[in-house]
Amino acid sequence: MGGGTQTHARPRPPLTPPRLPPGPASPGPWQLIRCQANFAGYLDACMRRHGPLFTLRMPPFEAFVAATEPRDVETILLDTTTRFEPGAASAILEPLVGPASLILSAGPQHMHQRRLLLPAFHGKLAERWEQQIAEIAARHLARLPLSAPIPLREPMREIALDAICRILFGGDEPATYRALRDEVARGLDPRIVVLLWFPTLWRRHGRLNPARPHQRRRAHIHGLVHELIARRRADATHAERDDVLSVLVAARDEHGEPLSDGEIRDLLLGLLMAGHETTANALTWAFERLSRTPHARERLAEEVRAGGTAYVDAVVSETLRTRPSVIDAVRTATSEIELSGYAIPPGTVVSAMLTAMHRRPDLWPDPLAFRPERFLDGRPPPYSYMPFGGGVRHCIGASLSLVEMRAVLRTAVGMLDIAPAPNREERMRLTGITLTPSRGGRVVLARR
Ligand code: HEM
Repeated sequence: MGGGTQTHARPRPPLTPPRLPPGPASPGPWQLIRCQANFAGYLDACMRRHGPLFTLRMPPFEAFVAATEPRDVETILLDTTTRFEPGAASAILEPLVGPASLILSAGPQHMHQRRLLLPAFHGKLAERWEQQIAEIAARHLARLPLSAPIPLREPMREIALDAICRILFGGDEPATYRALRDEVARGLDPRIVVLLWFPTLWRRHGRLNPARPHQRRRAHIHGLVHELIARRRADATHAERDDVLSVLVAARDEHGEPLSDGEIRDLLLGLLMAGHETTANALTWAFERLSRTPHARERLAEEVRAGGTAYVDAVVSETLRTRPSVIDAVRTATSEIELSGYAIPPGTVVSAMLTAMHRRPDLWPDPLAFRPERFLDGRPPPYSYMPFGGGVRHCIGASLSLVEMRAVLRTAVGMLDIAPAPNREERMRLTGITLTPSRGGRVVLARR
């Protein structure tokens, strides 16, 4: 769902001389504070004041252009391929995922990596994981406390982490794989998000360096992944295995050379990081939204009893529309591009701001209402619904995460009744690049 490859007629209006579109005049740090306080609300206000294309000036970017018009979103996603040129923004992500991960790689290296990984994440193939993910979910869900409000974010993170580790490393659970899972599960300390804005700290080694505990954890995680790689290289059966580590160990570049351990490690850690928080967060929101939407909850329960899947997929789509897990899809214009009549100069960071686009009342009548039915009645207009981005940097885990969410929701609804917690609707809190529920996604569960 959502745009894919359709195009539409695009009359070219006269361009302005290269300059950035208007935007709030307030200082960058203040814009950042407003976004942290109420990201979606701030974007709504920017759209009302400045129109569908506006410029924000938030650290670490001197300026970035946010687009909410489907036609501009199409241009950004199809005509630009570089996420971040080397510099401040990519340096921010490096401590988390490493320079050779798919998220940060560019040019021929990025294309080669995608070619290697796409078969493992292809839609039809992703479906083969559905049953195994349902079993993982049932195991975790059976342990949840009943009849009192509980935040679902942590249990959803554990399910998503077990699922992605299974897909990346395989089903046999040697001690190293379990240790890695536990180390990542211990989580990224919330302070890490602040520390990421100071990339130079990660390269220093003093005892008083606040990044030191995280550097240690990262070194430990690297050590564990290197052990897994070494063990798999030594395993003569890796060619018959279907996990991503085995695919990468068997891969050869155009000169017949294997990938280095460092590249395999960065690729795996990039997939691990990108592939569990996002899905866990979307699942948490799905339960929170269902708990507050009785008609959707009942219709889903009926469908699960009857063995269907259309409505559960619509619930997932509506969750990602109203509560996008990833706030936007970012690129750096490497040549001049045209957005809504503005000639955007090369070097500008441009964002397909899907959070705001998914809330435009002209595209989505009654946009704040949670109404999965809207995804049953045909496809949305091209490029108006883009929770996974688009173009050659489109989320590689999109099919997998849809299969995963379907499996977890169907398993949960088959086992449990979901009721709202007695607090107010949860706010969307900006945590890094995701919008998380302000109280962890609290619901009340009961055994069916
Ligand atoms: C609900 C779940 C998810 C959402 C909403 C989501 C969303 C996104 C978005 C918006 C992008 C940027 C796309 C662009 O720039 O055009 C992205 C990229 C990416 N995602 Fe996901 N994602 C999800 C799950 C996953 C999973 C399960 C994995 C791993 C298996 C994954 C791995 C990645 C990677 C590696 C990239 C970078 C791709 C590239 O640059 O080539 N994501 N994701």
